[in-house]
Amino acid sequence: MKPLSSRTRELKQSGIRAVTQMVNKYNGINLGQGICDLPAPDPVKRGAIDAIKDDKSIYSYHSGIDELREHTARKFRDFNRIPCEAAKNVMITNGSTGAFIAACLATLEPGDEVIQFEPFYGYHVNLLKILGFKPVFVPMEDKTWNVNFEALEQAISPRTKAIVITNPGNPNGKVWSEQELTRLLKLLRKHELWAYTDEVYEYMTYDDNRHLSLASLPDAFERTITMSSFSKTYNMTGWRLGSAVGPEPVIEKMGLINDLIYICPPTPLQHGLDQAFTMPDSYFEKLSDDYNKKRTLFCDALREAGFVFEPPQGAYYVFASIERIHKEFGVPGFENDTTACETLIRESGIGTVPGSSFYSNPEDGKYYLRFCYAKEYDVLEDACERLRAFGRKIGHI
Ligand SMILES: Cc1ncc(COP(=O)(O)O)c(C=O)c1O
Repeated sequence: MKPLSSRTRELKQSGIRAVTQMVNKYNGINLGQGICDLPAPDPVKRGAIDAIKDDKSIYSYHSGIDELREHTARKFRDFNRIPCEAAKNVMITNGSTGAFIAACLATLEPGDEVIQFEPFYGYHVNLLKILGFKPVFVPMEDKTWNVNFEALEQAISPRTKAIVITNPGNPNGKVWSEQELTRLLKLLRKHELWAYTDEVYEYMTYDDNRHLSLASLPDAFERTITMSSFSKTYNMTGWRLGSAVGPEPVIEKMGLINDLIYICPPTPLQHGLDQAFTMPDSYFEKLSDDYNKKRTLFCDALREAGFVFEPPQGAYYVFASIERIHKEFGVPGFENDTTACETLIRESGIGTVPGSSFYSNPEDGKYYLRFCYAKEYDVLEDACERLRAFGRKIGHI
C-alpha cells in the first residue's frame, strides 16, 4: 500500500485525551479540556427541537440562514463596533474553527508564512501545518504576556501574509489593549498583512480589561477577518456554530470554501441558535458575574496550593507556573509539566493540560500547567478544596 499523506505524519491525538482517561481512573475532576459543563440556554434548545420537528432539515445557504446572519451582523455592529452588512460581510460558520480554515484558504498561498504568538492555541498551528502553510512563532513575554513589537517586526518576512491574534487568549487569558492593537495595526498596514482575530472568549473579561475588536479601529476592517463563536457564549461547543465578519471579497470566497468543505452549517441548529438573540442583557451580565466569581474562587485556591501566575484578564483558563513548587518546595513529581500533570491527577484527582502543548519548543512550556475553571460551582468548589489539600500536603499552607 502506498503511504498515508505526509501532511498527517506529525499529527497525533493530543495529550488531553490521555489526561481525561487518567482523571476518570482516579475519579477526579478534569480541569484540562477547555469545555464548560453549563447547560445551553432553553430558548436555543427549544428552537432547535422545533426546527427538527418542522423538518427544517435541508441544506441552508453556505453562509447561513438570513435571519441568523442579520442578527449576527447586528451583534457585530453593537457589541464589537465593527461596521458591517449581513449580506456582504457576515457569515455563519461551522464553529470558529470552520471560520479559521476558510480564512486561511481564502487568503494564503501554499508555503505562505503566518505569525503566531506563543503560547498559542494549538488548533491554529496544527491547521496551518496540515493546510500547507507555515506558522512562524513570536513569543510573548513570560508571565506578563506583553508583546515584543520589535521581535514581531523581525519575524515578518516577504513570505508573511497574516498574523493570528487570540483575544482574549487561550491559554494565557491575555486581553489586547487598545494601545497594543493600534501598534499591531500599524505593522499590518506597513507590511500589507491580514489579521485573523479569534474572539471566541469576547464576553469573558475581568477587572478593567475590556474586549476590543481589532476590526473596530479606523482602517482596520479592510485587512481583518474577525472570527467569533457561539460555542463558549452559549455553552454549545458541540453544536459547531460560529461566525466571521470581514471585507466583502474575502467573505464571499470564505462562503464558497465553506460550501466545499461543509456545504453549510447544520440547518436546524442554526434555527435554534437564532433564538439566542432573544436573550435579555441580563444573560450576559450573569455570564460575566459568574465567570468573575469563579475566577476569584479558583485563583485563590490555586495560589494557596503554591502555583504562581498572573490572574487571567479574559477567557476562563489559568496558565500557572509550577517552577516554585519544584525548585523552592522540592515537591517530587513536579520536575516538568508532564510529570506535574500526572502527579496532580494521582495526588489530587485534578486534570490539567501540560504547558509544552502551547509552545513550538516544548522546553518553553515545561514549567506551566493550564487549568480551566468553566465548571459548575459545586464541581469547582470540590476542585478548589482538593487544591488546598494539596497545598497543605506540600506544606505551603
Ligand atoms: C481560542 C479558541 N479558539 C477557538 C476554539 C474553538 O471554537 P469553536 O468551537 O467555535 O470552533 C477554542 C476552543 O477551545 C478556543 O479556545
